[in-house]
Amino acid sequence: MAKVVILGVFVADTAYRAQRAPRMGETILGESFALGPGGKGSNQAVAAAKAGAETHFITRLGRDTFAEMALKTWAEAGVTPAVTQHDEGYTGAAYIFVEAGTGNNAIIVCPGVAGEISRADMDARAELIGSASVFVTQLEQPMDAAHRALEIARDGGAVTILNPAPAADLPAGMLALCDYVTPNESEAEALTGLPVTTLEEAVLAAERLIAMGAGAAVITLGEKGALYHDGKTGTHVPAFDAGPVCETTGAGDAFNGGFAAALARGFAPVDAVRYGCATAGISVTRSGTAPSMPSADEIDALLTRS
Ligand code: RIB
Ligand code: NA
Repeated sequence: MAKVVILGVFVADTAYRAQRAPRMGETILGESFALGPGGKGSNQAVAAAKAGAETHFITRLGRDTFAEMALKTWAEAGVTPAVTQHDEGYTGAAYIFVEAGTGNNAIIVCPGVAGEISRADMDARAELIGSASVFVTQLEQPMDAAHRALEIARDGGAVTILNPAPAADLPAGMLALCDYVTPNESEAEALTGLPVTTLEEAVLAAERLIAMGAGAAVITLGEKGALYHDGKTGTHVPAFDAGPVCETTGAGDAFNGGFAAALARGFAPVDAVRYGCATAGISVTRSGTAPSMPSADEIDALLTRS
């Protein structure tokens, strides 16, 4: 079976739902609190596994309660961990403010011991990374590790996906290692220096990302869906309406996990983007990040009725 290998971070998401964010020095009462599994890479691995792909996840954990949450989350979703546990350091956590009216969010993520993932860790996992059909990474762990892993994945013949989140400056040559780069609007703006507020602007930013070295670009556009550009043509894939929006946190991860799983299954790129959009469309109707990832059956049902 085609293998999806993902490098990234697991953190415990601590989500606070309130009418608005507190100002500095202010205390406000919130509406609700939830603790659950998160971290962009781990969320993407859960999404890919639930979408039916054989999925392996590379990271570092501490040896604490949040590490137990990680291992339980992956066991339930069918993700195979490629993980080292460390006594020094902690498993990370994220503060997530969820705006009650809109379901939108603002996040502080502390990766903990996953913030020390190194090039040497990637060399130690070279066999697994080299055996991937599809390799995915984001930028919550050090850039250096992401860069090295992409080199190994490319050498091994994998389809490579960089989800450049959170936004950061990329070292020279990194985008050239990526078959797909998958920023959201603000990450695309940060990478290209171009505004991305409309579909037309997204096309220009995608063309810039390809000129910078990426094989193809997928810019996720929130409720507008996604823009796929293969270097010749831009294709707009609209978002799916799977019901009322509850929480958009992790929607990008749902997209990337679903997209990777679909590519591993041999879908053509535009169909894989559609599959990712459907995965994200379901995830936003549920609270939480990893716990909101849909099954392959749910995604197929949405694709058939849309
Ligand atoms: O993309 C959403 C994720 O980003 C959350 O789960 C949070 O942990 C942050 O890493
Ligand atoms: Na969600």
